[in-house]
Amino acid sequence: MANDSTKFLKDEMQEIRKAGREWVHRILEGPSDTVCRVEGKEVIMLCSNNYLGLSNHPKMKEAAIKAIQTHGVGSGSVRAIAGNMDLHEQWEKRLAKFKEQEAAFITSAGFTANQGVIQQLAPSTEDVILSEELNHGSIIDGVRITKAQRAVYKHCDMNSLENEMKKLAKKNPRRILVITDGVFSMDGDHAPLDQIYKVCEPYSNVIIYVDDAHGDGVLGRNYSGKGLVDHYNLQGKVHIEMGTFSKAFGTMGGSIVGSTELITWCRNKTRSYLLSASHPPATAAASIKALDIIEYEEPDLVKRLWENIKYFKSRILDMGYNHEITAASTTAIIPIIFGDPKKAKEASDLLYRDYGIFALPIVFPMVPSGLDRIRVQANAALTKEQLDTGLRAFEELGKRLKVF
Ligand SMILES: Cc1ncc(COP(=O)(O)O)c(C=O)c1O
Repeated sequence: MANDSTKFLKDEMQEIRKAGREWVHRILEGPSDTVCRVEGKEVIMLCSNNYLGLSNHPKMKEAAIKAIQTHGVGSGSVRAIAGNMDLHEQWEKRLAKFKEQEAAFITSAGFTANQGVIQQLAPSTEDVILSEELNHGSIIDGVRITKAQRAVYKHCDMNSLENEMKKLAKKNPRRILVITDGVFSMDGDHAPLDQIYKVCEPYSNVIIYVDDAHGDGVLGRNYSGKGLVDHYNLQGKVHIEMGTFSKAFGTMGGSIVGSTELITWCRNKTRSYLLSASHPPATAAASIKALDIIEYEEPDLVKRLWENIKYFKSRILDMGYNHEITAASTTAIIPIIFGDPKKAKEASDLLYRDYGIFALPIVFPMVPSGLDRIRVQANAALTKEQLDTGLRAFEELGKRLKVF
């Protein structure tokens, strides 16, 4: 082309590179598992969302293969037209049962669940969205595409939530949609949902929406993996529980669970669902299997994850990394702070090169400056030897990079 209308592509990439913010994608040459092959090197995986080791589980693969044989590899359409297979219906019923809710709704991904459902819940200028400061980007995008008025409350700060709520209630909005991440993906802490419920309870026009992407399969009473709502025993009180199958459940697909009325409404109103094809049958079948494994076939799986979380965290806390942030983590996300973006990046490179550990850096602006880190994510399938190899590497690194 003669004109230079796309010159900005190069210019913007140059700026991104100059700021050291380019995402250079590493290549996994095989399955996502506790040991992976990354660009020709065998490494212990310490930064995947595959918390329960289900993404390469033999039973999951078997379920997927069987579904390919019986249902093919694609669904052929959106659910509402010709792509609604019996497996999709079974998947939703199975999830509703697992979550002890009336009904469930599956979208292509967690991102599209947030984007599609939030905009419909509070579409008008008469509505208000009250969003937690550290909510995930997919929530922020869902909020951006509505005409609703917005307010933000401070991270896990109930005074801030209450103050904002009082201010908003005076405006007499049609609805107030309170949205929070269940588990915060950078620090691994979780929302005080019981307190959020208490603040919201007096208001008849408040809807509570929880994104439990990192709580599903991890949190829940008696290691149930049923998520944060179950952790606080708030089933039937929190209106909307959003989740994803792309993390602990090992596959892919966003989810909304709640009342039958909510789910019927979602099926009719969510544009990212109505205008996007349904999942391949293999994904549906493997997702159903994931819930069977967690609930019945390997009921110790979530407990094993917690043994690994506790072991890794206690050893890291003894080493001398920033305790305040690491100790605030209440889940499988364990931040290990280097406090400087260059150090965090160097640490990640050294982990890969010298110790065979795969753990990527998270730096400013994804986290506040000075809290640049490596975000370790625990996995139920990691052996004690693998955890010890990882811990030894972090200890040596801390000394090499003079973190302590
Ligand atoms: C809190 C949160 N919500 C939503 C998502 C999106 O989920 P998915 O990967 O299924 O699109 C993520 C994934 O990064 C997340 O961390």
